Amino acid sequence: MTETYELSEEQRLFQDTVRRLAKERVEPRAAEIDRTGEFPWDMVELFREYGLIGVGMPEEYGGGGADLLTFCLAVEEVARVCATSSLIIAAQHLGAMPILIAGNPEQKRRFLPPIAQGEQLAAFALTEPEAGSDAGGTRTRAVLDGDSYRLTGTKVFITNGGLAKTLVVFASTNPERGVKGISAFVVDGQASGLSVGRIEDKMGIRGSQTAMLNFDDVRVPRDQRLGEEGDGFKIAMRTLDRTRPGIAAQALGISQGALDVTVEHLTQRRQFGRPLIEQEAIQFMLADMQTQIEASRQLLYRAATVVERAGFETESSAEVTRYSAMAKLMCSETAMRVTTDAVQLFGGYGYIRDYPVERMMRDAKITQIYEGTNQIQRLVIFRNMLQGGSR
Ligand code: CAA
Ligand code: FAD
Repeated sequence: MTETYELSEEQRLFQDTVRRLAKERVEPRAAEIDRTGEFPWDMVELFREYGLIGVGMPEEYGGGGADLLTFCLAVEEVARVCATSSLIIAAQHLGAMPILIAGNPEQKRRFLPPIAQGEQLAAFALTEPEAGSDAGGTRTRAVLDGDSYRLTGTKVFITNGGLAKTLVVFASTNPERGVKGISAFVVDGQASGLSVGRIEDKMGIRGSQTAMLNFDDVRVPRDQRLGEEGDGFKIAMRTLDRTRPGIAAQALGISQGALDVTVEHLTQRRQFGRPLIEQEAIQFMLADMQTQIEASRQLLYRAATVVERAGFETESSAEVTRYSAMAKLMCSETAMRVTTDAVQLFGGYGYIRDYPVERMMRDAKITQIYEGTNQIQRLVIFRNMLQGGSR
């Protein structure tokens, strides 16, 4: 299959607009967000104002109706200056995706508009203390009792936990059936019996709130179950197929941002009587960084195109699952390598907080871990690469 990944005129214009907005309004806040570790509500407002918060959600629910590649451009451009802020857009998309994939028309009409318009934050609650990479090991229980389910259990590391009004929670309705016993529920973030546990003190993306959520007999009306009982695991996997490109875009943006500031620094910084950028050994490192970034970008844009074509409502093909995982794997590996080299090329200045590259290196690390660690991406890629793409 031959395909080109040139951006359309419309996508270029959008990219320019977001780039300018990020430079003017997001970049000046990035260091402070990192330093204080406070969730940047002003960025939520900014992204609402510019229609970015729900940019990849359908227009009929108040979203921007953008294709996945355009959504990725938004995340990339914001991450180029502030990874925490880019996660606001990506996490909102993640929280909405199970509803887009598996919600019935009534559920979509009810839950999506406030998320798409950024009136409420959303969250996706899959991970548990004993079920991280092994998401099929979900222990949170959902027991049907009359017209509602009662949820009991603990979720950990939930982005927007304690802030989100709408949570999609995965819980087992039938533990004997293993992964086929997991179901998905839309849960009100303020439901009685739901409490916020520890809020994590993190290495990077420090302005994003990552929290433990305890469910103690939380009542969830039956009509807030997404799909049938037992559909939950597939809904979670299909969601991640469609959202891992967003994390790849975050990683790519971090890489590009690190390269931007490194080139600028090396052009100004003089040693041995001339700008450091004139040293061939440094030029070669910059050439490698640029090459890795561009290769990652091409893979991501292709992945976004492949995943977009599949839409929300169909089961993922092996190709969709594989491309999504490959983009996340490659872009995050690039981000870690490029940001580590950026710190190196800043010398001692790279190691201190007055310069942005140490933050970028800390922020890059999470992209190799969340939405499935890179070991898990490799497992997913392998399972979906052989003829027939058996999982
Ligand atoms: N689409 C549809 N169905 C899928 C699927 C997909 N992509 N992947 C698997 N399935 C189906 C399988 O076909 C199988 O169903 P059948 O038996 O009917 O065929 C069923 O699901 C079980 O699949 P597996 O046997 O492959 O399951 P597994 O237990 O071996 O492992 C895994 C699956 C890929 C390792 C999965 O557990 C996984 O992705 N783990 C990582 C978890 C993760 O990514 N968490 C992210 C949390 S969100 C987050 O982190 C957010 C953030 O940062 C902001
Ligand atoms: P483990 O599963 O304990 O893995 C430990 C190590 O073992 C890893 O290196 C892993 O790759 C490796 N490993 C595990 N299994 C295998 C295997 N089969 N083969 C080879 N290596 C393996 N989760 C949500 O549900 N929602 C969120 O919003 C969310 N946001 C997050 C935000 C942050 C900041 C963080 C840190 C995490 C977030 N997570 C979220 C959880 C994240 O997805 C998990 O941390 C991740 O999937 C890994 O699970 P774990 O931490 O339990 O690691």
